[in-house]
Amino acid sequence: MRIAGCVAVITGAARGIGLALAQSLAGAGAKVVLSDVLAPELQAAVTSLRAQGGAVAARLADVTRDEDVSALMDFAIETFGALNVVVANAGVARDALLLRRDATTGRIEPALSTEDFRAVTETNLVGPFITFREGARRMAEHGWPGVLVVLSSINKAGQPGQLSYGSTKAAVALWPKILAGEFHWSGIRNIRVVGIAPGYTGTPALAALEHSTLEPVLKDVPLGRLVALDELSATLAFVIENEAVHGTTLEISGGATFGPWQRSK
Ligand SMILES: NC(=O)c1ccc[n+]([C@@H]2O[C@H](COP(=O)([O-])OP(=O)(O)OC[C@H]3O[C@@H](n4cnc5c(N)ncnc54)[C@H](O)[C@@H]3O)[C@@H](O)[C@H]2O)c1
Repeated sequence: MRIAGCVAVITGAARGIGLALAQSLAGAGAKVVLSDVLAPELQAAVTSLRAQGGAVAARLADVTRDEDVSALMDFAIETFGALNVVVANAGVARDALLLRRDATTGRIEPALSTEDFRAVTETNLVGPFITFREGARRMAEHGWPGVLVVLSSINKAGQPGQLSYGSTKAAVALWPKILAGEFHWSGIRNIRVVGIAPGYTGTPALAALEHSTLEPVLKDVPLGRLVALDELSATLAFVIENEAVHGTTLEISGGATFGPWQRSK
């Protein structure tokens, strides 16, 4: 599928990876709807991309809400006339260990709350589910060539402290296989499904960390540096343009391996 002229919706696009993906697609001639829950940041992003000549529009939507996401997809179609690329990028992390030992009493207590576990699941799992369903049904209905893309993460090894986040990212990494199979079985030929699983990425938030904070993290990364935003944008472009890429999750991680046990070896 050609990027120029295609219509893309990206959730969580007010900053970070989502914004970088939106910028590169718009730069390559796609029409892009950026969506987020952060109103001022979203408006600033769209203003900046328009100033660079991008055909872009903004729509507030909370990915955990059916009605928001449904209205987002309708907005993209009303604004740009089709729907070809849906990127379920919005995500959160609330990392915590399962248990902690109270320093005073020595007793073992819960550390990760049910509320935080549910919040991460709601945004990272229910959110992409609604995003995919609402995008896919419109693509299937109209027969537009399309690709659904979900942002996973390093997903084959568990990182202590990421029981909630890691659970959601491992789950979505499997979705391309499940949905490629469903679409094949049900005769939907126009929609591909792909996961992109970045490693530690140089978003402004991560790149701004002190060297002393980043250094131990990068010890787990054979590449020796953060994944660049450009490298993720190039991956999304490859996914859109290469129609043989379907039913798979691509790891763009610099070879990252997880876990303090890796370091202690
Ligand atoms: N940065 C990394 O190193 C890294 C690595 C692997 C995977 N990822 C994944 O990539 C995606 C983007 O990460 P990022 O680093 O750019 O994060 P980020 O926090 O900078 O951006 C995420 C965006 O999602 C939005 N968002 C959060 N909850 C939302 C909701 N309910 N509805 C709509 N928007 C919502 C936020 O407002 C924010 O703008 C996430 O899914 C993340 O898990 C990031």
